[in-house]
Amino acid sequence: MLIRQKKPWEIAGLQATPEAAFLNRRALMQGALLAGGSGLLGALAAGPAFADTPDPTASLYPAKRNPAYTLGRALTPESVNANYNNFYEYGTSKRIAAAAQQLKTRPWSVTVDGLVDKPKTWAIDDLIRAFPLEERLYRHRCVEAWAMTIPWTGIPLKAFVEKMRPHAGVKYIRFETFNDPQMAPGQEVPFDPWPYVEGLTMAEAMNDLPLLVTGAYGKPLLKQFGAPLRLAVPWKYGFKSIKSITKITFTNERPKTFWEALDSSEYGFWANVNPAVPHPRWSQATERVLGTMERVPTVIFNGYGTEVAGLYTNIKGQQLYR
Ligand code: MTE
Repeated sequence: MLIRQKKPWEIAGLQATPEAAFLNRRALMQGALLAGGSGLLGALAAGPAFADTPDPTASLYPAKRNPAYTLGRALTPESVNANYNNFYEYGTSKRIAAAAQQLKTRPWSVTVDGLVDKPKTWAIDDLIRAFPLEERLYRHRCVEAWAMTIPWTGIPLKAFVEKMRPHAGVKYIRFETFNDPQMAPGQEVPFDPWPYVEGLTMAEAMNDLPLLVTGAYGKPLLKQFGAPLRLAVPWKYGFKSIKSITKITFTNERPKTFWEALDSSEYGFWANVNPAVPHPRWSQATERVLGTMERVPTVIFNGYGTEVAGLYTNIKGQQLYR
């Protein structure tokens, strides 16, 4: 299994036909649920493809929904989302859900270090209980040109950063996933730049949108979604939304991210969604909505331009859209 030979963005095109058939069948089965309404989350929660192990924070769900975040399209059924994932620690196909059940999410700790007043290692359940959780409906746009809409639950990254009190003027926040080839066979590939790393500027991190995600579909995160803690950065391509975070570092050095380290000619640090800037090997003008399989136009900043366009007005000479 060589990720270099089977980049996510390459296999997407090759698998398009069988995946479309698979997801269309799923969509038919879920058709009634797509109608939406308040009973939707309960109905979906009843039948996930992979039930997670008991979670000590389960009683915190469902969290109150923040009504400020609306989708403009139907939610992706949980059973579609739970069977179509990118989690390269568990393989290069989209069908990693079964393999991802090897992920052991307790005990789990998250270390916060670097340029911060009070470095701290959190036990995950203490971290989750230290902040009010809220549910937000977000669009999720992969660089491979597929899209989902997801009811995430989590902690606004801004609230977390404020509590950790990074030093004044610090430039970046860096996130790191676990590195344990015994728990994640995909990490046995020796020349890939494990662990998975991502990063944001502090200005991006302090925007209202980034969410430290602890749950989805009204319950704790399934393993294939990146339990027990992942990021959601909805105006950027999905690879920025790092899964299964174990370390958060405040730093003045721009993080070298996993995909940038693997192939900087195709994947960069910024990765803002822009339909007018094609990937070197395919167009980003449209996206396939998983669940309905509609192809719809992609929108700049994935539709979140009002909230984030201002972050980039003074940044010149950088490739902001890949
Ligand atoms: N985080 C880790 N640790 N490993 C990964 O392989 N894949 C990224 C991102 N976060 C990935 C990751 C990519 S390419 C995408 S599109 C999203 O997770 C997919 O999230 P989903 O499976 O919940 O849709």
